Amino acid sequence: MRISVIGCGYLGAVHAASMAELGHDVVGIDVDAGKVQALAAGRAPFFEPGLEEILDSAMRSGRLRFSTSTADAKGAQVHFIAVGTPQARGGGAADLTYVHAAVDGLLPHLSPGDLIAGKSTVPVGTAARLAERVEAAGTGAMLAWNPEFLREGYAVKDTISPDRLVYGLPSGDAAPAARRLLDEVYATAVGNGTPVVAADYATAELVKVSANAFLATKISFINAMAEIAEVTGADVTQLADAIGYDPRIGRRFLNAGIGFGGGCLPKDIRAFVARAEELGRGESVDFLKQVDAINLRRRQRMVDLVVESLGDQVYKKKVTVLGLAFKPDSDDVRDSPALDVAVQLNGLGAHVIATDPAAIPNSIRLHPQLGFATDTLDALHEADAVVLVTEWKEYRTLDPVEVGRLVRDKLIIDGRNVLDPERWRAAGWTYRGMGRP
Ligand code: UGA
Repeated sequence: MRISVIGCGYLGAVHAASMAELGHDVVGIDVDAGKVQALAAGRAPFFEPGLEEILDSAMRSGRLRFSTSTADAKGAQVHFIAVGTPQARGGGAADLTYVHAAVDGLLPHLSPGDLIAGKSTVPVGTAARLAERVEAAGTGAMLAWNPEFLREGYAVKDTISPDRLVYGLPSGDAAPAARRLLDEVYATAVGNGTPVVAADYATAELVKVSANAFLATKISFINAMAEIAEVTGADVTQLADAIGYDPRIGRRFLNAGIGFGGGCLPKDIRAFVARAEELGRGESVDFLKQVDAINLRRRQRMVDLVVESLGDQVYKKKVTVLGLAFKPDSDDVRDSPALDVAVQLNGLGAHVIATDPAAIPNSIRLHPQLGFATDTLDALHEADAVVLVTEWKEYRTLDPVEVGRLVRDKLIIDGRNVLDPERWRAAGWTYRGMGRP
């Protein structure tokens, strides 16, 4: 199939390369010439395991190209909209500027029977309004909403073998035609038995935001339990294991620590609240404000824990911060709790040396005032405190005896609860976790 993908950021670049990998003929389009140039040279503009491999094989197959001109979308049957919907300045709502620009830019290049398939995360009601715009332009094209559930770090796998497909289809006669096109795009996954939920626009849009709202709520729930554990001496990790054995609850996404960040969960719950308020149903998702507040409190708690552990003397203390990305296997520092903790400690006068296997360049751009070290052992040299805030494998597997030889003071604060307290204590360390005694 001939496919265009408008927007080659995280979502779009992975989608374009994955669609080509599946055998489609794909053009990825982005206004950012630098990004297009990098992708066309087979280089991923961000860290994502497996992406460069499929970019490379797709480029060599001749099935994938990149362009800065929307006119190159002409001739494709399905046009994916994969542009960003960031949090609007000065409020929680989503900024739809790029979505509108992408659809408007496509209109002159559409042919009757083409399908615009929205992938961007949008407030409920957006697809219906865009469909009216497409209809009014008299192109004879259709519109569907096909949300994406990929996780950074597993983006290629999640795109090629998704756990479900959700189609928000137009009403009336266009529905079967739109569905046929989407089934053809995803023929491999559909053929492998991937569940398909075919619904209307509003349901598809809501599936996406409610999935992220649920995940955020699950994380904040366990972090709320961590807050209670902190004043009672209970251990939140054992609590999570114990409740997680109940299959109705499940253990995944019950890791307490410094909370969630990234380009999706924080902005999506805020946009959901803003949209629900517009719809006169603010009270229905009012709890998401608590979810957000609990989450942000965890960063502060982490900073307080470091300060307290240093006997309230942080000024000029060397604090090694292990991790900057919002989660491991990513170089993404958007709304990263790890970077936030590093910045706050630096603001308190600590001599912060931060390290991360992938996210240093992005962090330097935002916070050049921090100290950075690319090598973990260099970062640990003569530290007064070690703070683990992104659970990269190389930090989870650090040897407390070896690290103990490098630091000045054996003090570790585990913001992700991923280290074995017994093992670290046995090696002479003071270990502090989040919601653990
Ligand atoms: C999230 C969703 O998981 C994807 O399904 C969705 O497609 C994506 O947003 C999106 O909307 O595009 P992602 O932002 O890649 O994916 O990150 P997650 O794996 O969800 O992690 C989010 C944050 O929660 C990270 O900061 C992580 O450290 C934190 N987290 C996760 C916890 O603090 N505890 C946990 O138990 C799990």
